[in-house]
Amino acid sequence: IKNIGVFTSGGDAPGMNAAIRAVVRTALYYNLQVTGIMRGYDGMIHGEFLPMNRKSVSNIIQRGGTILKTARSDEFRTPEGRKKAYDNLVAHGIDALVAIGGDGTFTGANIFIEEFGIPVLGLPGTIDNDLAGTDFTIGYDTAINTVVDAVDKIRDTAESHDRLFIVEVMGRDSGLIALRSGIGVGAEAILIPETKTDINALFKRLEKGRKDKSSKILIVAEGDDAGGAFEVAAAVKDRFPQYDTRVSILGHIQRGGRPTCMDRVLASRLAVAAVEKLMEGRKGEMVGLVNGDIYYTPFRNAIKHINEVNPSLLKIVEILSL
Ligand code: F6P
Repeated sequence: IKNIGVFTSGGDAPGMNAAIRAVVRTALYYNLQVTGIMRGYDGMIHGEFLPMNRKSVSNIIQRGGTILKTARSDEFRTPEGRKKAYDNLVAHGIDALVAIGGDGTFTGANIFIEEFGIPVLGLPGTIDNDLAGTDFTIGYDTAINTVVDAVDKIRDTAESHDRLFIVEVMGRDSGLIALRSGIGVGAEAILIPETKTDINALFKRLEKGRKDKSSKILIVAEGDDAGGAFEVAAAVKDRFPQYDTRVSILGHIQRGGRPTCMDRVLASRLAVAAVEKLMEGRKGEMVGLVNGDIYYTPFRNAIKHINEVNPSLLKIVEILSL
């Protein structure tokens, strides 16, 4: 291969810039050309290409967001859109791709490989941590630390006012942000889409909880089957009118901010491996980290939705909360 195209796609995640930097610098280290593609698949279709050098990625390792911008592309879902994208890659001499994103990104990459045979490797970039084949995705550590930081502050005011707070965190289909950050803040209960939420069981837990504890924090993943934080709050208020209940929805602050060191190192390691493996002729896989080692998973397996969470983490919540 001679020229690697790199792009970010889907929801952004802190650490994507560290990944872009590492792809660019590794390609240059091995005397390859590298081209940035703006706005993911949309930029590929509309010819938004940017030759990259060492300087293009200076001073970005610490920045959230993505300098290449990102988008969710409807046009790439059509055969005509993909053909346009492929023709543009050929016109720019790009003969391999590193795709940074989540399940939508890898689904697109898989179809693209099947149709045109272009080598693509993927880096897991999403705050949700919902990809199989890696213990952690790039951005997840930063996101859970953002949640912990915010909920620690909420705990201060909850404690001062003897209040119960219902905090909604991101995760349309995944409760992994809720679960880990919930353990980190000592939440009284955590509601996630992977387990069926039994609202009466939640009430019982709240009843059983220590009476002398003045603040209570419930963490709700946005995709929980009990509904969002406001629905849960309405049910709690109804059952426990004596609690002074408030709702806080953390929203997109979870997607931004300086990546943690863990996300920067993860992004750097995975990106170096991706470029090296593209040179060896690998394609159609996501590069992840499992038990500290680099691990390759075919896109079709990486995107299989994970419906289970580690039962030992759920048990920890049960033992330590209330
Ligand atoms: O996939 C990342 C994520 O932040 C999810 O946790 C969330 O449900 C979704 O993206 C929000 O997407 P958008 O920014 O397009 O509203």
